[in-house]
Amino acid sequence: MNKEITLEVFPNPQALAEATLSFIQEASENAKKAGRVFRIAISGGTTPRRLFALIEEKAQQGFSILSDAEIFFVDDRWVPKGHADNNGSMAWDYFKNSGISREHFYPIPTEGISPEKDAEIYENLLREKYGKNTLDPKEPLFDLVLLGLGGDGHTASLFPENEILNEKTAWVGTSKPLEAPHRRITLTYPAIASTRNVVFLVEGTSKGEMLARLLEGDTSIPAGCVVSEGNLLVMADLNATDAL
Ligand code: 6PG
Repeated sequence: MNKEITLEVFPNPQALAEATLSFIQEASENAKKAGRVFRIAISGGTTPRRLFALIEEKAQQGFSILSDAEIFFVDDRWVPKGHADNNGSMAWDYFKNSGISREHFYPIPTEGISPEKDAEIYENLLREKYGKNTLDPKEPLFDLVLLGLGGDGHTASLFPENEILNEKTAWVGTSKPLEAPHRRITLTYPAIASTRNVVFLVEGTSKGEMLARLLEGDTSIPAGCVVSEGNLLVMADLNATDAL
């Protein structure tokens, strides 16, 4: 289990998005060489939009980076498909024009009878795809987990003062942010750790303080408790590193 964080800094948000895309492409090629389906779990929010737009743009130029991937989500807000705050709907708006088949795109269900029930459904899907009910450190569930960093130090929907921060066995659970809107469904720490690469995508001066705490290994913030069976990488723009 790796807690050693590597930081890569890029001059501006566009350079950050391009470097992240290259990293995803390399991880995808490694999966292909190993005869595996490339399995990626993506976050929502605003930061990844530039990356998603780049994926769409490249696809329209004939380079469909994620066409062979299985695309999962790190978390979602428990709002219906099509709601402005639904991460799955936001991402599909870009990916539907990116040579990605809907059959390999797995948004978190958010229209069931409860967030808990939808979380159970998503966990069952992950178990089915993984083919085993126990996460094996030698066979990570994902090739790449793309995380954001919240202003309160959350990542995924692992928010401060939530029971889910103590979850050691379930792969998917629910949370309720203290301030941010909507109840959430999220991967747990064990599921996030079961990956060949964790990549935090961090952009802007507003993330400076939490980035510094993340890099110091501050486990009092949820993002500081993320570990990885593989690499643990922070990819940030220059503005985010002001406080370092
Ligand atoms: C979400 C994300 C969340 C996000 C951070 C950073 O559903 O909102 O998964 O964890 O990554 O809140 O969000 P921004 O990229 O909007 O700053």
